[in-house]
Amino acid sequence: MTPREEIMTFFKALASATVLAGCMFATAQAEGLVVGFSQIGSESGWRAAETTLTKQQAEKRGIDLKFADAQQKQENQIKALRSFIAQGVDAILVAPVVATGWDEVLEEAKEAEIPVILLDRTVDADKELYMTAVTSDLVHEGKVAGEWLAKTVGDKPCNIVELQGTTGSSPAIDRKKGFEEGIAGKANLKIVRSQTGDFTRTKGKEVMESFLKAEDGGKNICALYAHNDDMAVGAIQAIKEAGLKPGTDILVVSIDAVPDIFLAMAAGEANATVELTPNMAGPAFDALEAYKKDGTMPPKWIQTESKLYTQADNPQKVYEEKKGLGY
Ligand code: AHR
Repeated sequence: MTPREEIMTFFKALASATVLAGCMFATAQAEGLVVGFSQIGSESGWRAAETTLTKQQAEKRGIDLKFADAQQKQENQIKALRSFIAQGVDAILVAPVVATGWDEVLEEAKEAEIPVILLDRTVDADKELYMTAVTSDLVHEGKVAGEWLAKTVGDKPCNIVELQGTTGSSPAIDRKKGFEEGIAGKANLKIVRSQTGDFTRTKGKEVMESFLKAEDGGKNICALYAHNDDMAVGAIQAIKEAGLKPGTDILVVSIDAVPDIFLAMAAGEANATVELTPNMAGPAFDALEAYKKDGTMPPKWIQTESKLYTQADNPQKVYEEKKGLGY
C-alpha cells in the first residue's frame, strides 16, 4: 500500500467509526426514555391512526410508551397526567380533549420538571407550562375549506350546514372561525345551521338527519361543512337516505383526509378535504430527543401541513396510498 493509500484507508475507517458512533449515540437519545401518552379516545379514523403511529414511532425509537385512553373525558386525562408525574416519566404527550382547565396539572408537571408536549390540539394556558405543541394551523384548515367552497359556488346563493367538532375543543373553535373567515364577504353564502357532531360518524349522521328534516328534506341545503371526515361520512349516509345525492345536490367539504373520505370522493359523494397528518408523534419525539441530547428547546409550535384535496386529485389512488399508513 502506498503512503497515500494508507492515509485514505485511515480516514475511511475513521469516518465509518464516527458514523457508527453517531448512530449509536442517536439511538441512545431515545432508547430507554419513558413517555406517558394521554390520548383522547378513538372518536374518529384520524384519532385511531394517530394512536397507531404514536405506538409505532415509540417502538421504532426504543421508547417505553405508557398509553392511557381517556374515553373523551378531561378528568381521565388529568388523572393520567398525575399518574405519569407520580411515576416520574421522562416526558408526557397529551392530546387535550378541550382547550381549558389544564393550568393546575401542567403546573404540577412543570414543578416535577417533566416536559409536556401537546399533540394535535392546543390549550388556553400559559405557554411556559408546556414544552411545545405539535399541531396544524387549525384556523387555516377551516379557512382553506371555506375558500374552496366560496370559489366552487361562485355567485350562486348557498345555504350551508355545519357539523362542529367536540364542544370546547380547539379544532372545533378554530375550524369554525377559519371557515367563517374563508367565506367572509360572500353575502350569497350563509351558515343556516351549526351543531356539534362530536367528531363521530354516528353523531354526524344523526345531526345531519335533523338538519335535513328542518330544511325541507334538504332542498334548502347547498353545502355541508364538517369539522372532520368521519362526521362527513355519517352525514353522507343521511343525505343518501333522504333521497338526495351527496357531492352533487349537497356539496361536502371536511377536514382530516382519512382513507374513507377518498372513497367517498372517488364515488362523487364528497368534494373536498383538508389533510391533517396523524403522525404528530414523529416531530414530537424528534423534539424530545434533541432536548434530551443537549438541552435544545424546540419552538413553542411545531406546525404540520394542511393540504387541500379535491375530486380532481385522483382520490382512488390517494385512498390506496393512504390505507396502509396507520389507518
Ligand atoms: O384534533 C384533531 C381532530 O380530532 C381530528 O380532526 C378529528 O378527527 C379528531 O377527532
